[in-house]
Amino acid sequence: MARLTINGKSFEINVTPDTPLLWAIREQVGLTGTKYGCGITQCGACTVHIDGAAVRSCGVPVSAAEGRQITTIEGLAAGSVLHKVQQAWLDHEVPQCGYCQSGMIMAVAALLRDQPNPTDADIDERITNICRCGTFQQVREAIHAAAKA
Ligand code: FES
Ligand code: FES
Repeated sequence: MARLTINGKSFEINVTPDTPLLWAIREQVGLTGTKYGCGITQCGACTVHIDGAAVRSCGVPVSAAEGRQITTIEGLAAGSVLHKVQQAWLDHEVPQCGYCQSGMIMAVAALLRDQPNPTDADIDERITNICRCGTFQQVREAIHAAAKA
């Protein structure tokens, strides 16, 4: 058993402590906006926030997330008001197939929390998520737009 706080709600779930957080979020809690890409912390599709920091949830055991605030893409907006990164993504038509995008947005939201006006070098260093559709240029433009919002 584990108790997780996700998007402000508490969930008691029946998993072993070493279960990857990604599977608890998707399979136990049913929040499928967080995606499975590689399973080995390389692609970023599974990125969520733990206490505001971006983490790749396929590499975090449930035991390390208990007692902390987990936020998924479903909890990023404030009610009906989109997070400024989500709005910039819409304005700049970033997504193509969309598969990588929830993880990308979560990584960018954490970047802007830490560095409100990132340079291209900051973006290159922090946003290492993989997009098979090659949206990297649109991602960069949208990050700069969100930073100005
Ligand atoms: S699925 Fe977690 S980094 Fe790829
Ligand atoms: S939008 Fe298709 S993988 Fe990124």
